[in-house]
Amino acid sequence: MIFDTHAHYNDEQFDNDRDELLSSMSENGVGLIMNACSNLDEIPDILSICEKHPFIYGAVGIHPEDVTGLAPDYLDRLREYSKHPKIKAIGEIGLDYYWTTETKSEQQRILGEQVDLARELKLPVIIHDREAHGDCIRILREHKVYECGGVFHCYSGSTEMLHDVVDEFGMYVAFGGSLTFKNAKKNRAAACAVPLDRLLIETDSPYLSPVPYRGKRNSSIYLVEVVKLLSELRGIPAEDIERITEENGRRLFGI
Ligand code: NI
Repeated sequence: MIFDTHAHYNDEQFDNDRDELLSSMSENGVGLIMNACSNLDEIPDILSICEKHPFIYGAVGIHPEDVTGLAPDYLDRLREYSKHPKIKAIGEIGLDYYWTTETKSEQQRILGEQVDLARELKLPVIIHDREAHGDCIRILREHKVYECGGVFHCYSGSTEMLHDVVDEFGMYVAFGGSLTFKNAKKNRAAACAVPLDRLLIETDSPYLSPVPYRGKRNSSIYLVEVVKLLSELRGIPAEDIERITEENGRRLFGI
């Protein structure tokens, strides 16, 4: 079965058919989903999705694009929400210099604080790192991410950076629809270099649909395209990619 380790089913793009779509997952080979979180306002919706669907688990965390105007007591609130039995990670958290560099110092502070929280709660982190590799690695190292572990979601770093992420931090590395894009040479090289016991797959639904669905709303059902491509790239049967990435996801999130 497929484990989609990163999706956003609380997104309004699913408002018209969320339950119908999620009910069709198992007949489409999708057996587990991790729903990531971007800000405090989303958490009640994420919890209710997790409560309604036994195969969906959730994370809580503040996305780097949502650091402006953050409630001063946000850490207490994340700590409280994380007690819910279906919350299995802190995320997505990280740095994003693609959209703005004006909030750099806020993003860095809030990433560090959330890694500390994850260590305190003994939960893995889900890392969003876009055009900020150097700072991201430095902060994760300073805040001892190797003590709680986690995943680099939608990995966009180099093959060399895997030394820090996998060898030093012991983290997992997730690939999604962007691996199927034409210009994904560097990304595909990294996907071939990740040790099999650290490899994960994800959609980031409703974003980043794989080819041939690019531009449409993404869903976990399309993840089969990423499985197919990984199978070709690594020379491993698709069933094995599914089984290995499912086992890895279960180990990471304690499911
Ligand atoms: Ni995401």
